[in-house]
Amino acid sequence: MHVFVTRQLPGAALDQLRARHSVSVWPGLLPPSPVELRRYAQRSDGLLTLLTDRVDAGLLDACPSVRVVSNYAVGFENIDIPAATARGIPVGHTPGVLTGATAQLAITLILDLLRRVSEADKAVRQGRWQTWEPAAYLGTSLSEVTLGLVGHGRIGRAVAALARSLGMRVIYTTPGNGGHSLAEVLAQSDVVSLHAPLTPQTRGMINARVLAAMRPGALLVNVARGAMVDTAALTDALRAGHLAGAGLDVTDPEPLPVGHELLTFPNVIVTPHIASATVAARTAMADLAVGNLLAGLDGQVMPHCANPAVYTRPAPTA
Ligand code: DGY
Repeated sequence: MHVFVTRQLPGAALDQLRARHSVSVWPGLLPPSPVELRRYAQRSDGLLTLLTDRVDAGLLDACPSVRVVSNYAVGFENIDIPAATARGIPVGHTPGVLTGATAQLAITLILDLLRRVSEADKAVRQGRWQTWEPAAYLGTSLSEVTLGLVGHGRIGRAVAALARSLGMRVIYTTPGNGGHSLAEVLAQSDVVSLHAPLTPQTRGMINARVLAAMRPGALLVNVARGAMVDTAALTDALRAGHLAGAGLDVTDPEPLPVGHELLTFPNVIVTPHIASATVAARTAMADLAVGNLLAGLDGQVMPHCANPAVYTRPAPTA
C-alpha cells in the first residue's frame, strides 16, 4: 500500500513503515499546501499528518483511496473527525508520550514569568542593566503562588504534580471532581495555565470578559492551543497592565507576524510550539503515529484512536 507522510519525523519509525509499505515523505520545510496534500493523498491508502495539515470532508471525498489517517500529535482539531468517522476512516493520535514534556514546558514558562528571567535577560542584552539593585526585577516566591489550571486531563494533572512539588497551591477547573468553576479559578489564581483541547467550547474561551476576571497582575500561560485565547483581547489586557505577563507556546495566528504587538512586550514570552519538543517525546510520538497507521492499514483496531466510534458504527447499507 502507499502512504503519504507530510513531514520527515525524528527517529527510526518511518523505517518500520517503509519495511511494509511504499512511502512518500513531503520534502518541504513548510507544510504541503491543500492542493499538494490532495495530490499526494489521491494516490495514497494512508496519511500520516501533522497538526498543520487540514484533513476535511472535501479532502476525504476527493481521495477515496485513503482509508487510514494518523496524526502526529495528541490534538486532532486539524481533522474533521465526524467526516472521517462517517466514511469509516480511523484517525490515530499520540496521547501520553508527550505529557511530561508538555507539563515541563508549562512549568518552565511559569517559573520564567514569576522570576522575570526572560525580561531580565532582554534588559542585560540591550545594555539596560547597570548595577545590582535591591528592588529591580523582583519576582514572586513560589510558596505565594496559586496556580489555576483550565483543564485537568493528563497534561493538567502532570503540571499540577510538578507545581505542588515546587510549593505552589494548585486549583483547577472541572467542578464536581475536586475542581472549581472557571470563575473561581480566575478569581483566585496568580497564574492561569491552559490545558484543554481545542473544541467548539474552548475556542476563544479566554476572551476579554475572562481576562478581565483574572486577578490584576496575574499571569497567563498557554501550552495548549493558540485559538483558545482571543489574541486581540490578550494584547489589550497586557497593554493596559491588567496582566503582568504571558507565556505563550501557542498563538493565534501561529506564528505571530513579525512586529505583532504581543512580541513587543518585555513581559511576554513566545516560544514556537515546542511543548512536546524533547527527543524522547517526539521520537515516541513518531513510534505511536506509525504504529497507529500500520494497525489501520492492516485492518486492526488502532492502539490510539481519536474516533473509536468508527469501529462500532453500523455497516453501510448496500
Ligand atoms: C500536540 O501533540 O497536539 C502538540 O501540540 C504537538 O506536540
